[in-house]
Amino acid sequence: MPDLPRRIGVRTCVGDCPGLNAVLRSVTKHALQAGLDVHGIEDGFLGLIENRVRELRYDDVSGILALGGTILGTSNKANPKRFATGFDEAGDVVWEDVTERCFRTSEEHGREALVVLGGDGTMACAQPFAEAGVSVIGVPKTIDNDVIGTELTFGFLSAVEVATEALDRVHTTAESHGRALIVEVMGRNAGWIALRAGVAGGADIILVPEIPFSVDRVVDMIEWRRSMGRRATILCVAEGATMEDGEKIVHAHDPTSPDPVKLGGIGEIVARAIDERSPVEARAVTRGHIQRGGSPGANDRVSGTQFGAKATRLLLEGKTNRMVAWAGGRVTDVDITLPAGGQRTIQPDDPLVRAARDCYTSFG
Ligand code: F6P
Repeated sequence: MPDLPRRIGVRTCVGDCPGLNAVLRSVTKHALQAGLDVHGIEDGFLGLIENRVRELRYDDVSGILALGGTILGTSNKANPKRFATGFDEAGDVVWEDVTERCFRTSEEHGREALVVLGGDGTMACAQPFAEAGVSVIGVPKTIDNDVIGTELTFGFLSAVEVATEALDRVHTTAESHGRALIVEVMGRNAGWIALRAGVAGGADIILVPEIPFSVDRVVDMIEWRRSMGRRATILCVAEGATMEDGEKIVHAHDPTSPDPVKLGGIGEIVARAIDERSPVEARAVTRGHIQRGGSPGANDRVSGTQFGAKATRLLLEGKTNRMVAWAGGRVTDVDITLPAGGQRTIQPDDPLVRAARDCYTSFG
């Protein structure tokens, strides 16, 4: 068995989500209980690049279970292999490989084992550390629930609660005015938030990236509901949803980010298309970063606690290069390289898609 680590470095990477602090608390408490030291790396990989590392003690992580965000901070611009250091004279981004700098920081702090909380990109960024002999454990985080190798990422279920509450609220105003009300939700290229919140919030139409839609079919559904005596229609639309032969709607580009394309705006486009083709007035609202903010729900507090404790347990068992995962209703672990280069998306025959279709829900 390899030497067990005496010191763990833990960091939260890229976009935040509810439950990060629950995982940090759990990783740290379990490690302290086992007699290990814990270092918190600030702002994800940026803390390694800039040598911003601090000790985490019991009182640093006590009382943070229900706290949103991350006590360590995070950055979505810190991929060590491709780090933006500025702009050249032509205005192009200058990229640098700063992996060696990260290794130096790591060594200076006792060449810790690393627990990284992140999505597919983060797991890939952790690879050079594993190759250099550092024990690395990943914990899958994202509201998008799109990490390959796990059926659940923490943060997802809290985002679903926020989106569901928005759908509940627009029902009443849509009824008052006889409108089509669209709630646009996040999820990048996956429709998990839209699907689950759409079902929970009783959306009549759910549009997800995995099932391209036609505006004519959307309007047909609105008309059909009117013929059934329902004057309001509720739509839950994933930010990555596309029309047949259409393209993703991009809200912004951030060339300095490893994930430069920021999606957003499809809800408003669907609203305008409904207005053009139907007598029913349409309005769109977007939940945006509200889905990532605030206190984690009970489910994410529990999964965060389980995931964090499992991460430390794996290190104590001498394991490395594993990612904590959820499969078949229990916590397990998989090879950390599994998520690289892909996203877990909805299959058209997903049981929840089938159940929704069985209840007259249209996917456009
Ligand atoms: O991956 C999480 C996520 O919230 C996506 O759902 C969304 O597309 C993206 O991050 C937004 O990124 P940013 O916070 O950089 O705008």
